[in-house]
Amino acid sequence: MSEAAKKTSAKPDLQREVAARRTFGIISHPDAGKTTLTEKLLLYGGAIQLAGAVKARRAARHATSDWMEIEKQRGISVTSSVMQFDYAGHTINLLDTPGHQDFSEDTYRVLTAVDAAVMVIDAAKGVEAQTIKLLEVCRLRNTPIITFINKLDREVRGPLEILEEVEETLKIDCAPVTWPVGMGKTFRGVYHLLEDRLLRFTAGEQRASTDAELISGLDNSRLDELFPNEVDTLRDEVELIREASSPFDLELFQAGMQTPVFFGSAINNFGVQDVLQALLDWAPPPQPRDAGQRSVDPVEAPFTGFVFKIQANMDPKHRDRIAFFRVCSGRYQPGMKVRHLRLDREMRIGNATTFMANERVRSEDAVGGDIIGIHNHGQLQIGDTLSDGEALSFKGIPYFAPELFVSARPKDPFKAKQLQKGLQELGEEGAVQVFTLAGGRIVLGAVGRLQFDIVAHRLKGEYNVDAVYEPVSMHTARWLVFPDAATRADFERKENAALASDVDGNPVFLATNKYNLELTEERWPDVAFLATREHGEVLGAG
Ligand code: G4P
Repeated sequence: MSEAAKKTSAKPDLQREVAARRTFGIISHPDAGKTTLTEKLLLYGGAIQLAGAVKARRAARHATSDWMEIEKQRGISVTSSVMQFDYAGHTINLLDTPGHQDFSEDTYRVLTAVDAAVMVIDAAKGVEAQTIKLLEVCRLRNTPIITFINKLDREVRGPLEILEEVEETLKIDCAPVTWPVGMGKTFRGVYHLLEDRLLRFTAGEQRASTDAELISGLDNSRLDELFPNEVDTLRDEVELIREASSPFDLELFQAGMQTPVFFGSAINNFGVQDVLQALLDWAPPPQPRDAGQRSVDPVEAPFTGFVFKIQANMDPKHRDRIAFFRVCSGRYQPGMKVRHLRLDREMRIGNATTFMANERVRSEDAVGGDIIGIHNHGQLQIGDTLSDGEALSFKGIPYFAPELFVSARPKDPFKAKQLQKGLQELGEEGAVQVFTLAGGRIVLGAVGRLQFDIVAHRLKGEYNVDAVYEPVSMHTARWLVFPDAATRADFERKENAALASDVDGNPVFLATNKYNLELTEERWPDVAFLATREHGEVLGAG
């Protein structure tokens, strides 16, 4: 820690405020119930009234090919990307991780800005493809995960079977905290294994679980009275699961190695409060972060943080953007001057935005763990660090090797320059990955197809370029690190056709298929082929 930081660190009020922050995201496969759960969580925070939030978002997400809808979607995702609300003495920042058809690199990056995640699993479907992908990303930072098994009000799979699948597929130890009694028509509630009580589910009543009946103790005669047919099974199962499963371990959870598991039904607002309580009790407050030169503690007084997402404004005539910025230490105050470290110059943050559940307000104050929106005209890029002057560079905003590729060329050959400029800027913004091959051919890479649609739309609207996009037979990309200049020159000569550079000029190998990649890796044992790259640098380089 610098001398200046030491002197001013650890003010009690800052410490207290940071300790009350919980910054998390919800990960799930489409349709598992993320939107529903989000809405119920916001209800607890008093952040929204029930009306229609879910419907509006669902309507927006279903139409992805229509330009107007994309615009609308972007608009919606601006306001709902971050939702801050207060609950039980805590300030909660819920970061949206778009996980639908609009699955994109944004999703990955958002997860670098959270301290914990809630994983929602549809109890009928079990672990699905996007859950696996998202969990892999959480794993990069050992993010603690709370699991919510949803839709117990339906005929679903047995709870043991689901836990086994989670453990096997996701390679994470499960510690059931609640256990369901029945399912579908005979869903009676969940038994809290740590608090030794049953929360009773009453079918057809969409009520908050605070109103639901609580029955303490497995031997409570009220259980026999209410569920004469099921009570024996309940007792056996609870005893069995207590013996057979791992007990919840806070340290293992916080290390990302064990997940506490809750069962419930989001749509009935059942079991949701347990998840919220787990977030408050167990999920970590903002932690120290690696800022390259040193680790930065959130209770240090000097202001620091980083940009993890850029959202271009709705109005194409004004090329202003909102940079989503996670405060890592100190305190944001309106009008403050900060150091923009990549550009090595001072910058004034005049009018930052705080994203409440349904509105944006002017930020008056933000501390570690909070997200503020900084309006700018392109000065801020993903991964940029701002500080009060100290040379720092926060780590962990990765670019992932894309899985989808198209080539791009202008319809009008005279617009080649504009196309290049537009793609350079959109690439820097992180909307898509742009690779330029020898001879100037441009290939776009993405992890979600919607990224291409948005780029095409924005190139037309903002840069006035109509481009032709054609499929290319590419499988994946790898960032290259060479041991020395001679190897690089040799590689460039021999592998020229598959060699490209990204927007920051890093060398990239574009593989046509899996075998092509494997063979090339074998041919060049001294060259590192990397599947991720940090903002502005190749991971593992140097
Ligand atoms: P997502 O954001 O993860 O994609 O999921 P979302 O919350 O939109 O929920 C997907 C579908 O699952 C919705 O139904 C929603 O109502 C339903 N759902 C969510 N939680 C529960 C639950 O606890 N029990 C049951 N039975 N269903 C649940 P839909 O058919 O898409 O819409 P709608 O016809 O219900 O409006």
